[in-house]
Amino acid sequence: MKRRNMNKTTILMMGILSFTQVSTSLAQTKNKTAIYMNQHKPTSERVQDLLGKMTIAEKAGQLNQINGGAFTGPALNDEGQKGKMDAVASGQVGSMLNVIGVDETMAIQKIAVEKSRLGIPLLFGYDVIHGYKTIFPIPLAEACSWDLPQIEKNSAVAASEASAAGIHWAFAPMCDISNDPRWGRVMEGIGEDPWYGALVSAARVKGTQGDLSNDNLLACVKHFAAYGTVESGREYNFTDVSRFQLWNKYLPPYKAAVEAGAVTVMNGFTTFEGEPVSASKYLITDVLKNKWNFGGFLVSDWNSFGEMVTWGAASDTKEAIYKAFKAGSMMDMETRGMVKFIPELIKEGKITENELNYAVGKILEAKFKLGLFDDPYKFCNKERESNEIFTDGNKSEALKAAEGSIVLLKNDNNVLPLNISQKKIALIGELAASHDDMFDFWIGQGDAKDAISLKEGLENKYKSNVQYAPGYSLDVKSSANYINDAVALANNSDAVVVNIGISGKMAGEDRSLANPIIPENQVELLKALKKTGKPIVAVISAGRPLILTDILPYVDAVIYSWILGTETGNAITNILDGTHNPSAKTVMSFPYAVGQIPVYYNHFNTGRPNPTDDAGNWYSRYRDIPRDPLFPFGFGLSYSTFEYSNLKLNKTFINKNEKLIVTVELKNTGNYDGTEISQLYIRDVAASVIRPVKELKGFQKTLLKKGASTTLTFTIGSKELEYYNMSGDSVLEPGKFEVFVGGNSKDVLSSSFELTK
Ligand code: NOJ
Repeated sequence: MKRRNMNKTTILMMGILSFTQVSTSLAQTKNKTAIYMNQHKPTSERVQDLLGKMTIAEKAGQLNQINGGAFTGPALNDEGQKGKMDAVASGQVGSMLNVIGVDETMAIQKIAVEKSRLGIPLLFGYDVIHGYKTIFPIPLAEACSWDLPQIEKNSAVAASEASAAGIHWAFAPMCDISNDPRWGRVMEGIGEDPWYGALVSAARVKGTQGDLSNDNLLACVKHFAAYGTVESGREYNFTDVSRFQLWNKYLPPYKAAVEAGAVTVMNGFTTFEGEPVSASKYLITDVLKNKWNFGGFLVSDWNSFGEMVTWGAASDTKEAIYKAFKAGSMMDMETRGMVKFIPELIKEGKITENELNYAVGKILEAKFKLGLFDDPYKFCNKERESNEIFTDGNKSEALKAAEGSIVLLKNDNNVLPLNISQKKIALIGELAASHDDMFDFWIGQGDAKDAISLKEGLENKYKSNVQYAPGYSLDVKSSANYINDAVALANNSDAVVVNIGISGKMAGEDRSLANPIIPENQVELLKALKKTGKPIVAVISAGRPLILTDILPYVDAVIYSWILGTETGNAITNILDGTHNPSAKTVMSFPYAVGQIPVYYNHFNTGRPNPTDDAGNWYSRYRDIPRDPLFPFGFGLSYSTFEYSNLKLNKTFINKNEKLIVTVELKNTGNYDGTEISQLYIRDVAASVIRPVKELKGFQKTLLKKGASTTLTFTIGSKELEYYNMSGDSVLEPGKFEVFVGGNSKDVLSSSFELTK
């Protein structure tokens, strides 16, 4: 994704095409009297006027998206940069991806606007996943903050930086619920809860799109739908969910993102009911378009139309294109199939020009919405590019976001926070110092060299109090020397901070792991360090929940730091020394063992729930490990402690028009001021279909001074009590409901009420 990864032709082309600002008045002169160029006309009229002037080939060209930079998928096409630019000039391209920077986007836009017959501007799309140059925590980490305004802000900063570099369109947010930490892309998502995932997805869309002004981007809801269910956690694998699970568990975040106004949606690589999702009429036309009234446009994933042939769902690309188009798919990323076969399919009468106009009209509408017909270079502003990217202000947002994303999983004997200024700290772990391993793949133009490592963060603040040893190597298995040096350093220190985990490079697309565990040489290191008798704080870096069961006995405290971005070292230092009291709570369960995956809090009861792990025979459980995850959804500690009491419901019966008021006392019983994320869950005890044992339906983030108490109030109405039937209609059924409130999905107070007819 980074400039240094670009191929030589791209760099050459950048050299040839690079030039300074072109004035808008020069652009599109040849069509300036046309209705579609008249900004005083309504968009619908402009779109119709333009469609009326376009040839079938030009229309098919609008459905064609081609890569113009670093590859974010397999290299499939070899037309070369000249071939690509010729295609742009002849109106055969509607959008490009991975073209970045003002010079480059402006040069190519100039070709589209000045050389193509109708001067239709291109849309430049890019994976702006957790920042453009200022890198924020990975989306999964950010979701653990439960801080919706900050999440929205993070997306807004990313959009403002990318838009200052010529980009129009972010391929984000990813709204795929997943229960499988073997899947590398959990880093990009929202965790395991559909209700909370919906709120986060909507916040990300709002932050990205704002009011679609100069410093916003179009958002892209992906990957429609249920990509997070890839079988065995293996990337690009088969997916198969029932409509029951689809509607209740997987669709809510996509739906919320669409309702938040997302202009575009991306298909996935996977399957639904035996069809590649790109060709699922049910998902695209019946659900997205007809049921949700989605009025924007769809883009395929990288060659996902072409891959329909490989799946065995079409005999050739032409058939794949026909099926995908008929299902409602529109823009084609990297297959080159729409541009090639749509004119033939029209000629053969297999698709109508009206159908084509609908798809093309939606793409044009997005370009009009962004204002590109009025100023195709509005995102090409050198001054903005130099002044508004990687600013101190953006970095300070990234620091806040990072501090709020760190989850404290263990803190025996209050070993944390560490009084570092009074102590000698042994900082151990290659991950603490290796910039190369700090970032994942989806970092836009972020450069790990610009990020603060944990070593730098600690040393900047506490110079001589911190001594470093690598402790292990991420590449070399045998680690005796590393361990000996680390133990010697630990023996000479008051406390050990050991940064373990896996490289950031192991997070993201095509990064599935069969064993999401702490590597063996790191476990050996912890065992050796434990023998020193020093307090041991593990800082764990990873883009997914790793299995921590084997390491917990060897460490006193665990800080789960995920992948935090530009401000990593400063944020972790502020947690270690107590400048920031941790408050994040995990939005993905931490499995006890690999064989337990998928494990998630909102599971079903089974006919034989196991009340305890030793309740005799014939229960649903494992014989070798506990049934519960190591850390449940919603879990995270603070340096303070919080106590819940006095859960009260204002009624024991409500009808469908009434609201239930739930109150609970929350007290900060610890020695620090702190923020608690309180969660409310319900359970629909008996319904026409089975319902999960718990479903999150509310949360509050409360800052409480030490010793202070407050009364929290939650409201439950029919919206919180509904579920979806197999047709995607919400259903409200009378009967008993349980209510739970607590600091995580497991440790809760409970009560119940009845919804009457
Ligand atoms: C493939 C990924 O699945 C998708 O999320 C991404 O946006 C595209 N490649 C473009 O890079």
